[in-house]
Amino acid sequence: MTGKRELYRDLAAQCRSLIDGEPDHIANAANMAALIYHGLPDLNWAGFYFTKGRELVLGPFQGQPACVRIPWGNGVCGAAAVRGESVLVPDVHEFPGHIACDPVSQSELVVPLIESGCVTGVLDLDSPKLARFDEEDRVGCERLVSIFLGRGS
Ligand code: SME
Repeated sequence: MTGKRELYRDLAAQCRSLIDGEPDHIANAANMAALIYHGLPDLNWAGFYFTKGRELVLGPFQGQPACVRIPWGNGVCGAAAVRGESVLVPDVHEFPGHIACDPVSQSELVVPLIESGCVTGVLDLDSPKLARFDEEDRVGCERLVSIFLGRGS
């Protein structure tokens, strides 16, 4: 069975080849969401929210239709945006203010997109399994986000 480390190494390679030479942010975000959703097991949602003023606005994703606007600081996405760091939630029901877009979601990982010191959006992953995400997922997804932002290896 392929381990998580190998899985993220392969995803990073695929991510690089998908976005290499393509400057369109939306196209790259759409391909990233599809790559992650189909490449990682036990996800029911994978996608982006982008910062627009004092809100996070829905970007390309895979999964059920989701809430379009998240006020800055609200939910897990807003918390990751305000903190400027990844937020790993083993049980979303224990997270005050969690926004339940899909009631199937049990655990969540949100990684902020940080460009020139500003949070320009977040990558959000949801799972129907409790405690689906761990530190290896956080590190792996942060690497994918770095590649998406054009500075990863
Ligand atoms: N659960 C998120 C909202 C986005 S959906 O999961 C797609 C949150 O609490 O921020």
